[in-house]
Parts: sequence; structure tokens; C-alpha cells
Amino acid sequence: MPLSVPGATTRLRGENLAMNGTSGPLRSSIGRKLVVALTGLGLVGFLLGHLLGNLQIFGGPEPLNAYAQTLRNLGPALWVVRLGLLAVAAVHVVVALQLAAENRAARGGRYEVERRLAASAGSRSMLLTGLVVVAFVLYHLAHYTWQVVHPEFAGRLDAAGRHDVYSMVVGSFQQPLIAGLYALAVVLLGLHLSHGVSSVFQTLGFRHPRYEQALARVGPAFGALVAAGYLSIPLAVQAGIVALPPGVTFP
Ligand code: HEM
Repeated sequence: MPLSVPGATTRLRGENLAMNGTSGPLRSSIGRKLVVALTGLGLVGFLLGHLLGNLQIFGGPEPLNAYAQTLRNLGPALWVVRLGLLAVAAVHVVVALQLAAENRAARGGRYEVERRLAASAGSRSMLLTGLVVVAFVLYHLAHYTWQVVHPEFAGRLDAAGRHDVYSMVVGSFQQPLIAGLYALAVVLLGLHLSHGVSSVFQTLGFRHPRYEQALARVGPAFGALVAAGYLSIPLAVQAGIVALPPGVTFP
């Protein structure tokens, strides 16, 4: 049964705590968990794609700027993907917040089983790390996409006349404070993924006593891998392994 908790208990919670007026998969606690799991998987897909794109920084300005230009050339298709991503992220955050509110309510519940359930779905840290990731993404968009934060590193063009994303990223990460903020954020993102990915297996019902230990390790391993991948970029810039192209300077 695709539940992380005994079925009877879950039905109790689903019935007690379902939001009035909601329908479909959002009606029960389990439905909401499923929605959070599936939207989370969608966001993981974006995170992997974005990481692979960003790691091209190790190849120098050419591949990264060409990649960024290719994305821009997608034109309206890029906006369709962006709006899809925004919708998936919004549903993930809103429904996860609903679940967190339910857990909080259950923690004061009359029955021991309700309190236990709240603790097991627990992961109070998920709420904290999740909110930090949301705050980071807003800062990150303001930095690299809207270019209203640290604008001094944006707006340069490379020799081919493309937006010089490479210099913008390297120039920014040469500032220890900016590099430190990104480093902290991606470590917390790794923690969020570590628990989140393990929960996805439970919610989708991939549970078997024989594989329980192995499955429990997948989330932390995945979280560590993604965090290390993103972390490598500000660290490499700070270490001078990735540097500004000749002739590019910032005040
Ligand atoms: C070292 C880490 C990272 C670097 C260097 C980086 C770099 C960038 C750059 C350069 C852009 C703007 C692309 C452009 O408009 O040309 C961007 C956009 C974006 N990044 Fe990151 N990023 C990093 C980590 C992250 C993380 C951890 C997340 C999510 C938690 C994230 C989410 C996004 C989103 C949602 C966009 C907007 C995509 C779009 O508008 O098409 N990034 N990133």
C-alpha cells in the first residue's frame, strides 16, 4: 500500500483534516503527499538539468554563453517551460505548506497515533529548509535572471555579442559573501532533497523490508550529489580554478 503510515490512521487523518471544499487528489492527506511527491520529482528534473547546464562553466565562457543563448533562442517555448516550472513549484510549495499545517494540528491531537504520525511525517526541518530554498530562489532570480541584485556583474556581452553569463557568474562568485550565500543555500537544498527524495519512495509505495536500508540511503546520496555539484561552482571560483576571461574586470 503506497503509504508511509498505517492505512487506518491515514484515513483518520485524511477525513479529519481534509480541507473543506477541496476535491480530487488534494482532498486527503495522502493525495496531498502524492501531489508534493510528484511535483517534487518535476523540480528535481529541473535541478539536474540546471546543474548540468551550469557545470559547463568549467569549460570556459564559450560553452556556458552558447548554452544560455540557445535557451534564449527558444523564445516562446522557453516561456512555456518557465510557466510550467512556476506552476509546478507553486503547487509543490502551497500543498507542502498545507501538509505542514496539518502536521502541526495533529501534533496537538488527542490520540497518541495522531501525534506519532505528525512526528514521523515530521521532518520539521523540511519546512525550514524548504522556506530557505524558496527565499534563495527569489534572491537568485533577482540576481541572475532579473539582474536587479548585484547588477554591476550583469549586462556584459562576450566577443560573439552574446550575454556574458560566464563573466556575470564568475564576477559574482569572486565576492566571498555572494559565494558564501550560494554555498549555504545549496547545502540546505541538499538537506531538503535528502529527506524529500526518501519520502517520495515511501509515498509512491516503493517499500520492501529487503530494500528498506538501501532506499533510505538514496535520498541522502542524491542530496549530497546535487549539493556537491552546485557547491563546486562558487568553490572553484573562490579557489581561482574558474577565473574571469582575459580583459574582463569589474569595479
Ligand atoms: C552555483 C549555483 C547556480 C548557478 C551558477 C546558477 C546560475 C543561473 C543563471 C546564470 C541563471 C540565469 C540564466 C539566464 O537567464 O541566462 C539561472 C536561472 C535560474 N536558476 Fe540558477 N544557478 C544556480 C543554482 C540554482 C539553484 C540551486 C536553483 C534552485 C533551487 C536555481 C534555480 C534557477 C531558476 C528557477 C532560474 C530561472 C530559469 C529561467 O528563468 O529560465 N539555480 N541560474
